[in-house]
Amino acid sequence: MPDWKKIRDDFPALHQQVNGHPLVYLDNAATTQRPRVVIDTLSRFYERDNANVHRGLHALSMRATDAYEGARARVAKFINAAAPEEIIFTRGTTESINLVASSWGSANLKPGDVILLTEMEHHSNLVPWQLIAQRTGAKLRYLPVLGANVEGGLDLAQLDALLTPEVKLFAFTHVSNTTGTINPAAELCAKARAKKIVTMIDGAQSIGHMPVDVRAIGCDFYAFSGHKMAAVTGIGAFYGRQALLDAMPPYQGGGGMISNVDFFESRWKPTPERFEAGTPNFADAIALGAACDYLDGIGRDEIARHDGDLARLAYEKLSVLPGIRLLGPKGERGGLVSFAFQEVHAHDIVTFADEDGIALRGGHHCNQPLMKKLGLTGTTRASFYVYNTAEEIDVLVTSLRRILKFFAGS
Ligand code: ALA
Repeated sequence: MPDWKKIRDDFPALHQQVNGHPLVYLDNAATTQRPRVVIDTLSRFYERDNANVHRGLHALSMRATDAYEGARARVAKFINAAAPEEIIFTRGTTESINLVASSWGSANLKPGDVILLTEMEHHSNLVPWQLIAQRTGAKLRYLPVLGANVEGGLDLAQLDALLTPEVKLFAFTHVSNTTGTINPAAELCAKARAKKIVTMIDGAQSIGHMPVDVRAIGCDFYAFSGHKMAAVTGIGAFYGRQALLDAMPPYQGGGGMISNVDFFESRWKPTPERFEAGTPNFADAIALGAACDYLDGIGRDEIARHDGDLARLAYEKLSVLPGIRLLGPKGERGGLVSFAFQEVHAHDIVTFADEDGIALRGGHHCNQPLMKKLGLTGTTRASFYVYNTAEEIDVLVTSLRRILKFFAGS
């Protein structure tokens, strides 16, 4: 059993007062805090090893290259990819999905083809597909969510009928950033694979919170961000099955991704270099590797249990507040709760909770279509990570009672 109190001490940013109160950081679905070991890995790299990768024959460049490629191997192991070459570093989930949509899509989609998404996707896993649909003439189709007050999960009973021969790719989120729903990723991929449909999973909200095994899930692509898993901003990655990556054209051109350049044409390197034009974000990739070590040191089964327990506890404690509407399932869920009050806007709640030192997120959570479908303008979201505690949920409930009282009297 991990020592959760000691884990909390690993995160320097948590030990501060905000508006005269101890910080209660519950905005982890937007970005997590970083442990000292990740911050130190980054500083140490800049202090001792910093040089460009894959370009130099001097000691620092070779050290940096080894560390960068070591980070790729570490990420591959973290998600059980078959080989490091199946990991492409990007700026994060959004860039990963844009890359796959643009590169795989331009090579594989034609007018009349269908891209299947779900109604719970946030904008990162929606707008890139709109763009490639416009470019190729493909169409978008959506697996619906169950409506208001029926938990906002996917209507899985409709999936078989939607996986028609025109569908070439099915993209869905592993865990919803808005409802906390955990989708049965392996089951969805198996249904798509049986019909030779390529699958892409948005892992932004799952990667740092639960074990992820891309081969057990059976997906073709899996995208995620470092900053949502205790690493740093500006780095993320995606997994792509080797055979698919090998057949994909480059997304961006430049140094590092070519094997030969002439004035009028060039040839590409194999994956992963083909998709990493220019100087890659090697320092942050190395910090991402350190975050993988850190999370595995705690144990991702333990993290999943911890974050899920906190979310369920929060759901239960919040459910007694007058007029609250809670989204997502009551039982098993990812590490977040999202809720709305008829009378008080989410932005007001977030602003007033900040007075009590509590960091929440309010609004549409980059998920406008789902909000419209559920008849909401926005929700307030509390999202949890390894350092959060049951006591912090009590602080949240007390603060919400104060806010509701204020608005009832105003
Ligand atoms: N996608 C991030 C969130 O859910 C930014 O807050």
